[in-house]
Amino acid sequence: MSNNTNAMMGFAPALGWNSWNTFTWDINEQLIRDVADVFVTEGYRDAGYEYIVIDDCWSLKERDADGNLVVDPAKFPSGMKALADYIHDKGLKFGMYSCVGTHTCAGYPGSFEHEFQDAALFAEWGVDYLKYDYCFKPRHVSGELLYKRMSLALKNCGRDILFSACNWGEDNVYEWIRESGAHMYRSTGDIRDNWDSVKELALSQLGKQSYTGSFCHNDMDMLIVGMYGGSNSDFIGSIGGCNDIEYKTHFSLWSMMGSPLMIGCDVRKANQATKDILLNPDLLAINQDPEARGAYRIKPEPQWFHTDDVFMLVKVLTEGDLAIGFFNLSDSQRELSLQFWDMGLPYASGYSLSLYDCWEHKELGVFRERYAPVVAAHDCLVVRAKLVK
Ligand code: GLA
Repeated sequence: MSNNTNAMMGFAPALGWNSWNTFTWDINEQLIRDVADVFVTEGYRDAGYEYIVIDDCWSLKERDADGNLVVDPAKFPSGMKALADYIHDKGLKFGMYSCVGTHTCAGYPGSFEHEFQDAALFAEWGVDYLKYDYCFKPRHVSGELLYKRMSLALKNCGRDILFSACNWGEDNVYEWIRESGAHMYRSTGDIRDNWDSVKELALSQLGKQSYTGSFCHNDMDMLIVGMYGGSNSDFIGSIGGCNDIEYKTHFSLWSMMGSPLMIGCDVRKANQATKDILLNPDLLAINQDPEARGAYRIKPEPQWFHTDDVFMLVKVLTEGDLAIGFFNLSDSQRELSLQFWDMGLPYASGYSLSLYDCWEHKELGVFRERYAPVVAAHDCLVVRAKLVK
């Protein structure tokens, strides 16, 4: 049996779609096929989105007599292999879900003590991506060990399967996840479709920029862009969604901070504003920058004046440009003053910065020493800065 052959798998943050945020338990093969179709016809595939992932609730509640997981025939009557073939024929990749523990979070069989058997079955079905959750973990076994176990099973199952760990940032995951073999790891609890959740998750990962990078990306959870409260789960959607400015800021934070971007809305019904956000090529380029450096935070001057929810993020890009995000997560308009010396560019260098607005898609001009945009509440400005003499 051949082992992992794709040395570039997990190089950049994964881009794709996941069924959970909008559909939770209510999934079926027609929905998944429709999403694959839309990925092609609406330009998601061409923008770089690649993985179509079925989350929890796809199996029966019991394994079969041989201990294999069994696909729910009411939801997926053609079986997973046929669905994988359909997705592959569209030039896309197919993801599935299981769990470290005895059960998944929704109570279906988990992979505990079945890791190698399940990995072999996923390979047989043509799976390219496995999300691996953290519920029902026997307390006497270390989670670290169980992620190492599934990683090894996947790397030796005969198929290239990207390993997406999901332990919600628990048990000091930052300290051991990279060496486990996971290509990405969830660092936060579950996102909900409201502004407070976006803000809470983003703030929780500021300062964690050295724990992300190629082949092991910090996954801040799936996107809620375009959901507008449309989840069938009260937990995720009960507060009624965000407005487009907030979705834009959410997408900017996730892009700048190097998170995988897994779309969570019903892309079949996405409006133009949603598509403009999800398909923004300038933001996607920042997210997918080859060096995958974490973004560092700068407090605006004067520092004593600003609360922690007002900050700049700077990401050093491969070719020498800087991606700079001016984020105002507070509830009132703010001026965010960035002194270029805070990014290593003193006045004496003779360099200025030529700024390009990644949302308006236009040049803002050339600035020396400092730039201080006024940003509305919950909004952001993301620029690409080029050094010029
Ligand atoms: C956990 C995960 C979610 C989702 C659900 C499925 O809560 O964090 O992303 O996969 O389980 O039950």
